Amino acid sequence: MADTSGTQRAGRRSHHLAVIGGDGIGPEVTAEALKAVQAAAERFGFSVATTSYDLGGRRYAATGEVLPEGALEELRAHDAILLGAVGTPEVPPGVLERGLLLALRFGLDLYVNLRPVKLYPGVSSPVAGLTPERCDMVIVRENTEGLYAGAGGTLYRATPAEVATQESLNTRRGVERVVRDAFARAVERGEQRGRRGRVTLCHKTNVLTYAGDLWQRTVDEVAHDYDGVDTDYVHVDAMCLYMVTTPERFDVVVTDNLFGDIVTDLGAAVQGGLGLAASGNLNPAGGIGMFEPVHGSAPDIAGKGWANPVAAVLSAAMCLASLGEPQAAAALEEAAAGVLPELGAMGGPDMGYSTTELGDRIAARVVAAS
Ligand code: NAD
Ligand code: IPM
Ligand code: MN
Repeated sequence: MADTSGTQRAGRRSHHLAVIGGDGIGPEVTAEALKAVQAAAERFGFSVATTSYDLGGRRYAATGEVLPEGALEELRAHDAILLGAVGTPEVPPGVLERGLLLALRFGLDLYVNLRPVKLYPGVSSPVAGLTPERCDMVIVRENTEGLYAGAGGTLYRATPAEVATQESLNTRRGVERVVRDAFARAVERGEQRGRRGRVTLCHKTNVLTYAGDLWQRTVDEVAHDYDGVDTDYVHVDAMCLYMVTTPERFDVVVTDNLFGDIVTDLGAAVQGGLGLAASGNLNPAGGIGMFEPVHGSAPDIAGKGWANPVAAVLSAAMCLASLGEPQAAAALEEAAAGVLPELGAMGGPDMGYSTTELGDRIAARVVAAS
């Protein structure tokens, strides 16, 4: 099922990526991200081998398989996974999203979904007057629990007495590990960028009192270990308001799985569009990571060459950073950010370039990177 290509030259750093293009625009943007990765490998003196996995709607239609037996173990043998997007109108909702994407997040225990929300220079936000200085945050989304855990069920299905429950699971261990990750990030100081020492919990403690209490107490306890960190709390509804009116309020935001899903699409809009929003599914305890754009398979524009590959390139940059290639990661980010001011729109027919043309321009900038 795997198609392996790439080179491993003796004496050079080498990384082996599993690539799951998936559905719709997933393979289109992933191909462009790989061009940028290979350009960076050449430029910075390491090699990248890739193994493509044909998973998603087509595979399911052909064989009925979503995540075949043994695939998780095979994927685990790589250094990281690059994923495009999964989900297609031909397959009932949830089959691929739960059976493939969530199965990977859960199966690899990727408990942090890191989603930067950053306005790049030259991108016009739909928020009038917003400047890059006022919009630079990371959302640390819990990625293995909450309403996504799959707890619940249906009784008397398709009768007038039908009952459906969907339960949010919040474990002390699960909440604490993601909250600790958020605090650790808030004090990160890098050469290229540092965080600003502020952690905001985003929840709905005024209504979801059981889960909210666990989250708030955990934040309060972990805060004791981080003297210099400023902690803050916002209800998720107010978060949606502040993301638009005063995004400068946020540095590191920690939140549960579903809230994190929702506020990061809003974040993507604020930073200029879904075509620009990157993410990394991480296991900070030491397992391999999976990197994917925040956007989905966009069936409405699939096959048209209208997809913006920047989100996929920025996700690949996060991947390279996780593999210990900070220069290459910075080059990808700079190259992707560099093309944005040239675009007529951040995706769609008015972008000014096709997906592949844009990918070529980004790869060329990586080659020229200092
Ligand atoms: P979507 O993110 O695919 O698309 C939302 C809108 O944004 C569409 O109008 C689309 O054209 C546009 N868009 C998305 N990415 C773009 C890009 N790179 N460039 C330009 N425009 C872009 O969300 P949806 O339509 O709600 O979902 C479509 C399918 O994708 C569903 O099956 C859903 O379950 C799945 N999905 C998968 C993932 C994932 O694999 N990570 C994420 C979200 C949705
Ligand atoms: C995302 C997507 C997924 C999620 C879906 C496709 C399961 O919306 O990555 O944001 O809800 O996490
Ligand atoms: Mn989402």
